[in-house]
Amino acid sequence: MTHSQPNARALITALELEQHVEGGYFRRTFQSDDRAMVEIEGGQRYLMTSIYYLLTEDSPIGHFHLNQSDIVHYYHLGDGIQYSLIFPDGTLKTVVMGSDVIAGECLQLHVPGGVWKASQLKDGAAGYGLISEAVSPGFDFADMELGNRQKLTEQFPEHSALVEKLTQV
Ligand code: GUN
Repeated sequence: MTHSQPNARALITALELEQHVEGGYFRRTFQSDDRAMVEIEGGQRYLMTSIYYLLTEDSPIGHFHLNQSDIVHYYHLGDGIQYSLIFPDGTLKTVVMGSDVIAGECLQLHVPGGVWKASQLKDGAAGYGLISEAVSPGFDFADMELGNRQKLTEQFPEHSALVEKLTQV
């Protein structure tokens, strides 16, 4: 039996994804409605939320942003996705999520709260990369900051080329 690989458009339709402000496409798949909310400094949050997140050839970059919550990423399908993480002390960590575990690609990636994160679709046969994210405490726009090129360059001058490439504003 042969299975043809879905293309990016078919996945967006089948998974009912929308454009994300960071770039790429997403849909929230879960929020912990049946559990007590968590109190954080900024207010009440779900204990956990989860999304699908897709990068495609026409939206291949998740631009730099920072979330206060911890996020665990789970790789599903398609081409690899390269993550650039800048920690508060300026340390840059580059990780590729993908299915080639033997070559060092990751199926899971934990990004602690307070870390700047960007993602880039790698070249490959599929033309998309699909992951899921579990966010705890649950995602809220108030806990998320989109990376500003000038501000990030001032904070991390050693990463100015990367910041230039992977910021929107
Ligand atoms: N990033 C991680 N989780 C979410 C979410 O639930 N909504 C949005 N817009 N972005 C996210």
